[in-house]
Amino acid sequence: MELIHTVDWMKQVARQARAEGAIVGLVPTMGALHEGHLSLVRAARERCSRVTASIFVNPKQFGPKEDFQRYPRALERDRDLLESLRVDHLFAPPPEEMYPRGFSTSVTVEGLSERLEGRSRPGHFTGVTTVVLKLLEIVQPSFAYFGRKDAQQARIVRQMARDLNLDAEIVVCPIVRESDGLALSSRNAYLGESERRAATVLSRSLASARRMIEHGERKTVPLVERIASELAAEPLAAVDYAEIVDAETLEPIERLDWPALAVLAVFIGSTRLIDNMRIEPRAGGVVCEL
Ligand code: PAF
Repeated sequence: MELIHTVDWMKQVARQARAEGAIVGLVPTMGALHEGHLSLVRAARERCSRVTASIFVNPKQFGPKEDFQRYPRALERDRDLLESLRVDHLFAPPPEEMYPRGFSTSVTVEGLSERLEGRSRPGHFTGVTTVVLKLLEIVQPSFAYFGRKDAQQARIVRQMARDLNLDAEIVVCPIVRESDGLALSSRNAYLGESERRAATVLSRSLASARRMIEHGERKTVPLVERIASELAAEPLAAVDYAEIVDAETLEPIERLDWPALAVLAVFIGSTRLIDNMRIEPRAGGVVCEL
């Protein structure tokens, strides 16, 4: 695996790959890799003849009071993991490569970026779409891989790809969970022992709503009430939002008549975690994917 730190070199490698007719898959990450990231790499490895992973803790997607400085960084370990999965190129630029002095452009997907996470983290998605567009331009992949744990991010990146006629196909992969249901996240590393136990309340509350759906509930108010009451029962949890929204528009809905997402953001102590469940009405009933 080749480690690349500069945009120019990465672009040269990408040009060469295209000239050779390679099918390039990009897995953009901020590092501190876990099984969730590795599942994206495996999906890319299966479909693509060349796999590039990127590690860049993107300052533009952190608010002034957020955890940019503290965000876990583990380049050596990440590098070994990616190497073991036969990644061809690791693009790990320093901040000044991505945002040189005088950098002054940003990309915003309007509407979708202001809902849910966007309400609590103003500017976050502008930071995400700006860096993702740069990475897509630099690496020129045919496929780019994102996890459904960040469902709003995946929806927004897809919208950007559609609106800007980008060549890359955006592939969204399932959430990877611990055996007790906690969705894998680099931020789980912040949790103390009792917080780690408490953090299972996110997936438990979603699973509880799933049971109601399996028993025929189609109205969202009682489902959201059930999720909220499960979360309220956990003393270490403070809810930022818990909603059921249209999977396309991310606007709240009243009934499960079309694809939806149950979405949560919850503070466990000072750590803010997100989780979601995809809800899809099908011919034979409603399927819930946690
Ligand atoms: O999901 C992430 O890790 C980041 O938001 C991404 C897509 C790598 C952009 O910085």
